[in-house]
Formats: sequence, C-alpha cells, structure tokens
Amino acid sequence: MVSVVLGADHGGFVMKNELLSRLKERYEILDVGAYALDATDDYPDFACAVARAVASGKAERGILVCGSGVGASIVANKVPGIRACLCHDTYSAHQGVEHDDMNVLCLGARVIGLELACELTAAFLSARFSGDDQYRRRLNKVLAIERQERDWQKGRIKNPIQRARQQ
Ligand code: RB5
Repeated sequence: MVSVVLGADHGGFVMKNELLSRLKERYEILDVGAYALDATDDYPDFACAVARAVASGKAERGILVCGSGVGASIVANKVPGIRACLCHDTYSAHQGVEHDDMNVLCLGARVIGLELACELTAAFLSARFSGDDQYRRRLNKVLAIERQERDWQKGRIKNPIQRARQQ
C-alpha cells in the first residue's frame, strides 16, 4: 500500500516536487501530478485525485499543494471520507490528526516557504489519531453528518437541516 499521496497544480508544483524528493526517503509515495509546470492546469483535478486515493484506501494520507491551499482543501473535502485542512502552523498540522483524524494536509506554496512546509508535513505524517472517547465521539458525529448528507442527496431521508430543526 502507498502510504502518502501527493498532488499539486501549477501553484504548488515546485513545492510538491521538493516535498516528494524529501519524503521518498521515508515513505512510499504516489505522485498524482502535476508532472510538468502548466500554468493552465486546474487544482480540482489534482485535489480530487489525492482525495480519491485516500478515500479508497490506496493511500493512508494525502498532501495537496496549490497556491494558497484553499482551493485544494475545498475540493478534497467534497470527497466522502476526506478530512482535509489547510494548516500553516505545526500545532494544527499534528493536532488536526490527533483530535480530528485529518487525513489530507493542504499547503499554500505562495504563502509559506519550503522549510516550514517540510516541518508541517513531518508533524502531519508522524501524528496519529488519539482515539480517546471525546475525539471518537466527535469524529462519529462528523461521519454521521456525512452519511446524512449523502442519504438526503439520494432521497433516502428528509432534508437533514429540517430534521435537525425538528429535533
Ligand atoms: C492557481 O493560480 C491558484 O488559484 C490555485 O493554485 C489555488 O491557490 C487555489 O486555491
């Protein structure tokens, strides 16, 4: 199994390749592109590829780099099972895994430098979900919301917002 999947659009291309060359010493890496610098490429394509690799179990964790990290995190969170966050401080990069079971880290290559990106990546990849009762309870609530939204979209249940108001 691949342990880390990496992806970036043109905004994160250089940083993604730098991270790849450093991480490949320690992790089995899947690189889903971009494979060449193309100013016309679109972050949703790479963010979706990273998110699907994690959601399908092909990779344990994902790292996405775009210009700001914002677009990548918006897209990745559309994929069920993904908990992607833009983290530019090391506390959030590990605490997001420990408390929230974050499985995709998003970075903005136009916002932070390479050395900070490496520290964030190391903090993210070495962290583990705590599994303590309160974090598991909250994670289960997150997963329940995701299930309800899916069921609502498929017409299996009433609008979850109306349901919540009725409760
Ligand atoms: C690309 O120019 C840029 O918009 C993209 O990398 C990203 O920052 C989007 O959030």
